[in-house]
Order: sequence, then structure tokens, then C-alpha cells
Amino acid sequence: MKYFLPVLLALGFSTEVPLAVAQPAPSAAKAKNTAFKPGELWYDTDGNLINAHGGGVLLVGNTYYWYGEKRAQHQEEGVNVYSSKDLYNWKYEGVALAPATDAQSDIAAGCLMERPKVIFNQKTGKYVMWFHLELKGQGYKAARAAVAVADQPTGPFRYASSFRPNGNMSRDMGLYVDDDGAAYHIYSSRENYDLRLTRLSDDYLTATPQDSLLFAKHREAPALFKQGSKYYLITSGCTGWAPNEASLHVADKLFGPWQLLGDPMSGPNAKLTFGGQSTYVLPVPGKKDAFIFMADRWNPKDLKDSRYLWLPVQFKNNQPAIDWMEQWDLEHFSKQL
Ligand code: GAL
Repeated sequence: MKYFLPVLLALGFSTEVPLAVAQPAPSAAKAKNTAFKPGELWYDTDGNLINAHGGGVLLVGNTYYWYGEKRAQHQEEGVNVYSSKDLYNWKYEGVALAPATDAQSDIAAGCLMERPKVIFNQKTGKYVMWFHLELKGQGYKAARAAVAVADQPTGPFRYASSFRPNGNMSRDMGLYVDDDGAAYHIYSSRENYDLRLTRLSDDYLTATPQDSLLFAKHREAPALFKQGSKYYLITSGCTGWAPNEASLHVADKLFGPWQLLGDPMSGPNAKLTFGGQSTYVLPVPGKKDAFIFMADRWNPKDLKDSRYLWLPVQFKNNQPAIDWMEQWDLEHFSKQL
């Protein structure tokens, strides 16, 4: 074997890489999306995989902003934001909130910023982000809610503070703005055994003492929405990154009483929420009773490579129901009426 290379060289063969390197085929990923394909690879308009996990969506004018965890393989790298006019095609707008380089900061690189949600405050004109914060090097011990503020939906967000609302542990969380503009933080507390709700201050920057237990059923990943006069709440069980059975609760008032309706999922793998975990329910404007259930199908071996499950919420017998669909588009909501 060791004589082979000199022989080739003597015969005039070159060891250099040929100049005409094959060009990668134009990426199919850049073609415009016209449908949702739950669980499939979802690329942004630059052709990169969307990296916005545990996220939520905010509508500003006619533009949607999707905020979510920016993940490396395991590491947290801040909160990403994407924009879209049609919900299928998303443009990367950058990092809305980056971990701090200052090692003394609560959000020092190495911390965990999970399940970010952004709401707009009409009174102050500010965009307010809440997320679940775990301090660097402490695993999931800190169990804090954290707040950041921006003048623009794309940020940059300025970190404001972190705390345990009214002294309660706060891990998985969501935000909800009611019809009257009052906003609420819903959160898993007491080692995730309790699900609690606290009303936010008028500027949305802090929790008020109006804070109570909704139920103690060891649930997390709360996604709250309202249809007609009813509030609905989808949650998951507590099995870390592994999927489990979802449940749906209903209430006439946000602070309850909340009544269990059961598991709203149906179709293949429905008993494990199709392999996903709830993160948000997005009301689709301009369409009556149209909501999109958003979930994450986590890949704990490579978190950035986790998939998104977006499915329509349907109303069957006047109750929210979520059926598995390989592919669907917003026309679905017109057909349903
Ligand atoms: C899940 C939670 C995720 C993340 C994960 C870590 O239960 O919903 O947001 O915290 O645990 O194991």
C-alpha cells in the first residue's frame, strides 16, 4: 500500500482536491410552505431549522412573532424570535434575549431560560417577556419566573428581574391576557405538584398577591385559552422530556374552579400527546373559534433538533378536541364552520 501513492504521483495523478466541487442542490427547504406538517423538519426563510422551543406566538398588527428557547445540543442559548405573516413561513429575527456575559447576572451564560412568552402592554407600550429561569450550575433548584422588557417585538429585550411569585416555586409557565387587558402568569409550583395562577401588575412586570392554587395534580406545560365564555387549559404530566398524556380542564373563571374534561387528543399515539408536550394555544385572528395547539416533541439527545407539533383545535360537542393530522392548512378552520 505504501508504494501506491508514489506510483500514482509518478503517473501524473494529483493529490489535490478537484476544483469542480459539486454544488449542493438548491435546498427544497427554501420553497414556500403552504401547510403545517406536524413533527416534520421546519425551516425558516433562510433555510435553517427553526430553533424556538417551548415557545409562544404574539400577533402585532398583521405580523406574528414566534418566541422560543434557542437550544444547542443541550445548552440554552437565549430566546430566539421569528416573524411571519402567514404562520407557515418564518423569518429569523435573531436572539431577542441573550444570556449575559456578566457571570454575576441571574441570566449568566449557562443558566436555563425556558418556555418564554411575550405579551404587549397597551398602557406602557412595552413588550414584556416572562420565562422560566434556572440559575447557572443549580439544575432546576432555583425555580424562578423571570421578566424582560423591550420597545420592539424583535427586541432586544432587557432583563428586568427574577423571583418566585409570592414566594412560590415557579417552573413551567405560560402567560394569558384576558379580554379586559389583565394578564396572568400560570405556573407549576411546589415541585410541580401545584398549578397556580397569579395576576400581573398593570405594567405586567411583577406578580400581584392575587395568586392562588388552581389544582394540585402534578401537571406542567400549561397552555391557557378562552373560547366563548369558557376558559380552557391544556397541561402535560411531569415526565421531563419524555411525552405523557395531556389533559384538558375547563372553568368559567380564571381562578376556578377548574373541572377536568379528560384527554383531548385522538389519533395515533394520542395517549402520549403524539410524542409531544403542550406549550401554547394560539388564537387565529379573523377566524371564529380557530385555535392552534402548539407542542414540542423533545429530542433530549439533541434539544435543538426537537420537533414542533402544530395542530388545529376543533370543537366537538362544544368541547376542544385535537386530532392528529399529517398535514393541514388554515382553510381547515373555514371548513369547520
Ligand atoms: C419538562 C419541562 C421542560 C423542561 C424539561 C427538563 O418537564 O416541561 O420545559 O424543563 O422538563 O427536563
